[in-house]
Amino acid sequence: MNFMDYKVADLSLAEFGRKELSLAEHEMPGLMEMRRRYAADQPLKGARIAGSLHMTIQTGVLIETLVALGADVRWATCNIFSTQDHAAAAVVVGPNGTVDDPQGTPVFAWKGETLAEYWDEAEKVFDFTDEAGNKIGPNMLLDDGGDITLLVHKGVEFEKAGAVPGQDSTDNEEFKEVLRVLARSLENDPQRWTNIANGIKGVTEETTTGVLRLYDRYKEGSLLFPAINVNDSVTKSKFDNKYGCRHSLIDGINRGTDVMIAGKTAVVCGYGDVGKGSAESLRGQGAKVIITEIDPICALQAAMDGYEVKRLETVVDYADIFITTTGNFDIIRVEHFERMKNQAIVGNIGHFDNEIDMAGLAKIPGIVKDEIKPQVHQWIFPDGKKVIVLSEGRLLNLGNATGHPSFVMSNSFTNQVLAQIELFTKLEEYPIGVYVLPKHLDEEVARLHLDALGVELTELNQAQADYLGVPVEGPYKSDHYRY
Ligand code: NAI
Repeated sequence: MNFMDYKVADLSLAEFGRKELSLAEHEMPGLMEMRRRYAADQPLKGARIAGSLHMTIQTGVLIETLVALGADVRWATCNIFSTQDHAAAAVVVGPNGTVDDPQGTPVFAWKGETLAEYWDEAEKVFDFTDEAGNKIGPNMLLDDGGDITLLVHKGVEFEKAGAVPGQDSTDNEEFKEVLRVLARSLENDPQRWTNIANGIKGVTEETTTGVLRLYDRYKEGSLLFPAINVNDSVTKSKFDNKYGCRHSLIDGINRGTDVMIAGKTAVVCGYGDVGKGSAESLRGQGAKVIITEIDPICALQAAMDGYEVKRLETVVDYADIFITTTGNFDIIRVEHFERMKNQAIVGNIGHFDNEIDMAGLAKIPGIVKDEIKPQVHQWIFPDGKKVIVLSEGRLLNLGNATGHPSFVMSNSFTNQVLAQIELFTKLEEYPIGVYVLPKHLDEEVARLHLDALGVELTELNQAQADYLGVPVEGPYKSDHYRY
């Protein structure tokens, strides 16, 4: 392998990264069990996995698990602020390499990429080399938020049309970069993305927002390969999205601002899985938490969990902290910023930065953006009022802190590994479509994490199992059970 073929901030951070990787391995029993169970069989031998997911310590353990199962892997991050540079360095160096002789996995990620760098690096995960040294595409994608899936689909679309629209065809600064990267590749190789797409068996998608994009593509008939929706494994969304955010939301606010949360009024926009964890996180610190929702079921849940449920417009003048968790866009807009009180804190924990209208904020006449430290800015209005925005509106738990802890990510990533094995080894069972993992695998992921917490699971006897109409060994619930 060509070991100039990586781009990280500082390889000398690898030793620190390796120490944290070993700590994380202890907290990731599901992933370590995948290694024990499958290392001999090498079910991912021959898999060339292009990955795009926050390049954190936990992701390092995932990458090294995929490699232990036989895969060849290339990795980029899925967010410009979420990379942990020591994790990226350690993965490049690998468990057996040194800084002078890296032997790990090519990673293209560092904290604080520009949007242009982000999309340039995202494209590099597609450049595998075969044993003869020829360029070859990936045969599997592992995505978080759908950005590399988008590159392939848009690439194919523009190759079919024979042209990429000019960058002035969009106002979206990020999409301009997508168009730039695709225009360049079309110029170099008019069949690049078509060839890549033809070689891809499937994609496993990590998050709610990416999954939404996949179902949209499937419905409109444009999905090019099968997908496994990892997010909707119960052991992913009901754990990572909820308990993960319960841990990492206040971690981000604390590291970003050190402001006392107790006694403050915090608004959480959205009461889905992420919203539930976020609201509990703030309430645990003693904040008065107010929820906004559009869905009557989630609004009722919030009310019965003891939160006030209001419209943003009702509370925007007096709340201290505003957190968006909706996966929707345009939630906090200029008219809200204008009414906020001095030193209000605004942040987002949903996947994309469009939940907060950052472009609109920057266009307010006379407004000044002042950096307190990286990923923490105060926006000073012409009348002197300041609003603090975390991670420039990108997910603050990864931008201002280190994201979810290892144990919960072990659940998510064990689903990822199982999903990769499913699609790679049983492709014939997955015609183009979007699938969730079978329930017995979901239960297995949970089972792998019980011992570490000292859980004694009660066993059904045969008569009880017959009474419930379920096998003694599970699965125990119907597919429509909601947990
Ligand atoms: P979800 O669909 O369970 O929850 C979103 C909620 O927002 C829904 O209940 C919906 O009704 C509500 N909502 C939509 N539009 C709204 C509006 N205009 N005002 C108020 N509420 C509104 O989705 P989930 O799983 O909670 O994910 C939310 C976002 O967080 C997604 O973008 C997902 O990809 C991302 N995510 C981020 C993580 C992180 O570590 N930062 C971890 C997991 C997911």
